[in-house]
Amino acid sequence: MSAEKKRQYAELAAQLSALIEGEPYPIANAANMAALIYHGLPELNWAGFYFADGQDQLVLGPFQGKPACVRIAWGQGVCGTAAARRQTIVVPDVHEFPGHIACDPDSRSELVVPLLQGERVLGVIDLDSPLRGRFDDADRIGCERLVAILSAHHRDWRDGSGWVDARNPATASG
Ligand code: SME
Repeated sequence: MSAEKKRQYAELAAQLSALIEGEPYPIANAANMAALIYHGLPELNWAGFYFADGQDQLVLGPFQGKPACVRIAWGQGVCGTAAARRQTIVVPDVHEFPGHIACDPDSRSELVVPLLQGERVLGVIDLDSPLRGRFDDADRIGCERLVAILSAHHRDWRDGSGWVDARNPATASG
C-alpha cells in the first residue's frame, strides 16, 4: 500500500470510528460514512450506499454526489454483481465492464464493497471516480476496513432487525 493511501485510510478509519461512536441508527452512520469518504478521498465524483431490498434488488441509500439510479437489479451493474458475488469489485475502466450502469457519464472507474451479515448481503458501498484506474488494491483493503468498522459497530445486523427497521421506519415495531 502506498504510504499516502495508507495514511489516508488510517485517518478515515479513525474518523469513522469517532463519528459513529455511541450512535445506533444505521442510516445516520451510513450517511456520515458516505460524506467522510467523499470529502476525504481525492478524485471521487460519487460515494454512497445501495441497500438490499428483498432478494432481488438494491435501492439507493445515503450518498454524496449527483443524483443516482434508485434501483439496481441483483446481479446487474457493478453494484448488483458485487452483491450477487458477495465480493469486492474494482473496475479500472467502467467502459470495459459488461453491464455497467452509467448513472453519471463522468464516472470512469469504480470500487464496490458488499456489506455482509454472514452469508446475507445487506447492501454495498460504491465509490466512483472520473479517473481511469483510480482504485487499486490499497483502496480495496482500505474500504473493506471502513466497511468492517461500520459492520462491527452495528452488531444488530446479525439478526437483521435493527437494520431493516431503521432503513424503513414504516416496518419498525413499537
Ligand atoms: N455504476 C453503478 C451504478 C451506481 S452509480 O455508479 C452511483 C453500477 O454499475 O452498478
